[in-house]
Amino acid sequence: MGRNILLVGFMGVGKGALAREIVRKENSLYTLDTDDMIESLTNTKIKKIFATAGEEAFRALEQKTADWLAKNVSNAVISTGGGFYKVKNIKDIGIVVYLRADFDWILERIMGAPNAKKKLKKRPLFQDIEKAKALFYERYEAYEKVADIVVDVDKNGFDSITHMIIKRAF
Ligand code: S3P
Repeated sequence: MGRNILLVGFMGVGKGALAREIVRKENSLYTLDTDDMIESLTNTKIKKIFATAGEEAFRALEQKTADWLAKNVSNAVISTGGGFYKVKNIKDIGIVVYLRADFDWILERIMGAPNAKKKLKKRPLFQDIEKAKALFYERYEAYEKVADIVVDVDKNGFDSITHMIIKRAF
């Protein structure tokens, strides 16, 4: 079984977009997104899961998704929710690539997007910028600890980041 590539990092860093770009360049790979998997499993939007069941229930769904991925999936590029790095068996799923960027770059990327309002609205942990910033600093080192590869997405163009990941992860 070929191993998976797992993209981790803070909200808004571009995990989904990069995953799609990698599979576009490397055929015979598929992309999966853990938030999409949870939404399809529960038939509920992430925002609603947070509002009704709470964050702890959401984290349990992330763990359930991790268990399923570790058991059933290979040869995929998997983008993850910003807190997915906390699952206990992340290394059993695949090679972990941390997309690193500073907070101001992330904020600019989200705010500068044409659909910024929508991007913010669907993220319960990005409703208050100061709180999101605190969460960013709380997690900063933890992402590095769990990563096999660290890529600075705020210092490189999209194309070279994609090449870097493909070169280092396969
Ligand atoms: C979260 C990030 C979100 C989503 C949920 C929680 C987090 O995914 O999983 O809102 O804890 O950082 P994105 O990183 O795709 O925004």
